[in-house]
Amino acid sequence: MPIQWYPGHMTGARRAIVESIGAHDVVLEVLDARLPRSSANPIVGDLRTDKPRIRLLNKGDLADPDVTAAWVRHYDRTVQADPGNGQPPGRAVTLVLGHDRPGEAKRRIPALCKELALHPSGPGKTVRAMIVGIPNVGKSTLINALMDRKVAKVGDEPAVTRSQQRVVLANGMMLTDNPGMMWPKIENEAAGFRLAFAGAIPDSAIDYEAVALWGAAFLLARYPALVTARFKLPAPPPTAAALLEEIARRRGGLRRRGALDLHKAADVLIHDFRTGSLGRISLESP
Ligand code: G4P
Repeated sequence: MPIQWYPGHMTGARRAIVESIGAHDVVLEVLDARLPRSSANPIVGDLRTDKPRIRLLNKGDLADPDVTAAWVRHYDRTVQADPGNGQPPGRAVTLVLGHDRPGEAKRRIPALCKELALHPSGPGKTVRAMIVGIPNVGKSTLINALMDRKVAKVGDEPAVTRSQQRVVLANGMMLTDNPGMMWPKIENEAAGFRLAFAGAIPDSAIDYEAVALWGAAFLLARYPALVTARFKLPAPPPTAAALLEEIARRRGGLRRRGALDLHKAADVLIHDFRTGSLGRISLESP
C-alpha cells in the first residue's frame, strides 16, 4: 500500500524549518512511542544539523511499557556508541511522555533545554527550542502542557497546524511549533501501515480495510491475549480476515441479508487500537 500524502503546505513547512533552524538552540523531536522509528521523519533527520536534540516518545500511555523501555535503552546506547551522528556527546536525550505522566513535560523539558543549549545561558539569555514531528503525534498537546494553558489547537485530524507559530513560556524560553511534516513518499510498506494504523495519515488517504487487515495480522501475532480479551473470543482467530469477521459479528457489523460489514469491523479495530481500548500496544521494537 504505497502512501503518498504530502499536502502543499508541508513543502512550505520544510522551507520554514530550514530557514529558521539556525536561530534555535535545541530541537524537540516528537515521536510516537508506539512506532518511534516509523514516526521519525527522515527529512527532519537531514535538517537537524548539529543542534542538541531531545527525543520525546509521546503517547507513552498507549504504548507497551516494556517496548518503550527498550527503545529508551536503544537510543541511549546509540548516542553513546555514535555521539557523532550529528550530535556532540551527551547532547541527545530521550524522554517518555504521555497522558499517564502529567507534568513530566513541564518538569523536565525547560530544564533540559537550558542544560543542552550550546550557548552559556546567563541572565537575559533566551533558550530557543524548535518542535518538529509528523502530524498528529502530539506537538500541540506538548505546547499546551508547557504553557499551562491552551494556546495550540489540538485535533484528531492530521495536519491541524498549518504555519510556524512561536510562543514564549513563563520562564522566558521561546518555543517554535511547526506544522506536522510527512515526507513525499513512504518507501517502507510496513512503516506506511504503522503510520496509517496509528492515525498519522488522514483516513481519507488510506485503504482503510487494508490497514485494518494489516493491524489485525500484527495484533494476532504480537498481542493475541489482548485481542481475545477485548472482543471476548474463546481463542485467537486463525487469520486477520477471520478476526475482522468475528468483530463484525460481535459488534453489530451485520448488513441486510446477514452479510458482514467489514468496513464497520475495520473501524472498530482501528478505533480500539488508537484510543488504547485494546490495551497498551507498540507497533515496532528496536
Ligand atoms: P499534533 O499537534 O502533533 O498534530 O497533535 P495534537 O497535539 O493535536 O494531538 C493529536 C491527538 O493525539 C489528540 O487527540 C491528542 O489529545 C492526542 N494526544 C496527544 N498526546 C497524547 C498522549 O500523550 N497520549 C494520548 N493518549 N493521546 C495524546 P484528539 O482525540 O484529537 O484530541 P482531544 O479530544 O484529546 O483533544
